[in-house]
Amino acid sequence: MEGQRTLFLGTFVHCQNLDSLEYFHDTGVFVDEKGTIVAVKQRCNLTIAVETVMPELDSHIHASQYPNAGIFGKTTLLDWLNKYTFPLEASLADTDKAKKVYTRCIERTLSHGTTTAAYYATISVPSTNLLADLCLSFGQRAFIGRVCMDTDLQPDFYRDSSAESALADTKATIAHIASIDPTHSLICPIITPRFAPSCSSPLMHSLGALQKETNLPIQTHISENKNENELVKKLFPDAASYTDVYDSHGLLCPKTILAHAVHITEEEAALIKKRQAKISHCPASNSAITSGTAKVRWMLEKGLDVGLGTDMSGGYSASILEAARQALLVSRHVAMGGDDKAKLSIEEVLYLATRGGAKVVGLEDKIGGFEVGKEWDAQLIALGSVDNESKGDKGLVDIFGWESWEEKIAKWVFNGDDRTTSAVWVKGRLVVHERQ
Ligand code: GUN
Ligand code: FE
Repeated sequence: MEGQRTLFLGTFVHCQNLDSLEYFHDTGVFVDEKGTIVAVKQRCNLTIAVETVMPELDSHIHASQYPNAGIFGKTTLLDWLNKYTFPLEASLADTDKAKKVYTRCIERTLSHGTTTAAYYATISVPSTNLLADLCLSFGQRAFIGRVCMDTDLQPDFYRDSSAESALADTKATIAHIASIDPTHSLICPIITPRFAPSCSSPLMHSLGALQKETNLPIQTHISENKNENELVKKLFPDAASYTDVYDSHGLLCPKTILAHAVHITEEEAALIKKRQAKISHCPASNSAITSGTAKVRWMLEKGLDVGLGTDMSGGYSASILEAARQALLVSRHVAMGGDDKAKLSIEEVLYLATRGGAKVVGLEDKIGGFEVGKEWDAQLIALGSVDNESKGDKGLVDIFGWESWEEKIAKWVFNGDDRTTSAVWVKGRLVVHERQ
């Protein structure tokens, strides 16, 4: 597959824009040896029917937290971090353990059709570098963040010893990734201040300066939980807002991915828009650890760029399709609170999971749809396996198999999982092999 020219045949589905899907039936897509789409030809008179849909992007996921997926009990953010998250992340300083965790995480996200992930690893440089190596060898497109956290919010056993050492360790991971993928064709470092309460002001200033120097992306958390927001007010009394904390440290730029943004104000949304920073909406996590209901329609109306994140293991699932369906359901809860237009459609949540996510991670020119010049990131979907087909039983043809394409996609969004993703490609390489 890799290094060969390939012709893909069948039906291709991608998001045309926020409101509509585009279906290319009876179509051939030609991919060159570098994994770039060089031609899309419709009306091929095919007799075969395979369904290939757009790649999915996870714009916020903690690879290091995979063993805890589904475990959060009655905690909310700040006690969840102390009870479950910091001990697990600290234990991945053991690179043998990290290798097992990261391998399983990459295999699982790929099997769900996540072709690109913006990962948080841990504070350990060797274990973070290992995550980069593994993504490269599995062929998953990834942003790899060595987590920075130097305040006493976190325990002694899991903390950067100083702002200087956190910066030096971040640079060490950047250098490692430059050595394994010099052009960042697949793997890119991402500057990762965990969140404002975890980072001293000197650390945030130095990471902001590093962004200016390197033009690398940044990822962090913002306004996820009300207690967190109170803490930020206490820690940064002179800041106009949580968003202003990041802005005043040079951390708010077009390459910044802000996870959650559940409780941001009008003024904060305006500042995020002005800086062209991006938002990763993490609905499964926001419900699981009781953070709140993010107002996605409100964000979109303000012209903010929004993608989806699993936020595993704040979120319980490694699947971005699960995040899409949770985004749809959470938007209905916002609507039931009195704002009927808050409801997101199937098309809209799929857009957030694909093209929206591509924009959030700064790769909208490279991935997210099936256009000439884009790279071949795609998943093959067996729509029939979510009861869309009679499977040869003539007695069932009136019950299964009558659905329109729109209805097939709807059934996939609500019932699909890794079993309906039969194959996955990233940059032209087959990374999940066809299953029957
Ligand atoms: N805020 C700071 N760290 C984390 C984390 O690991 N997960 C989530 N959901 N929020 C955070
Ligand atoms: Fe997170």
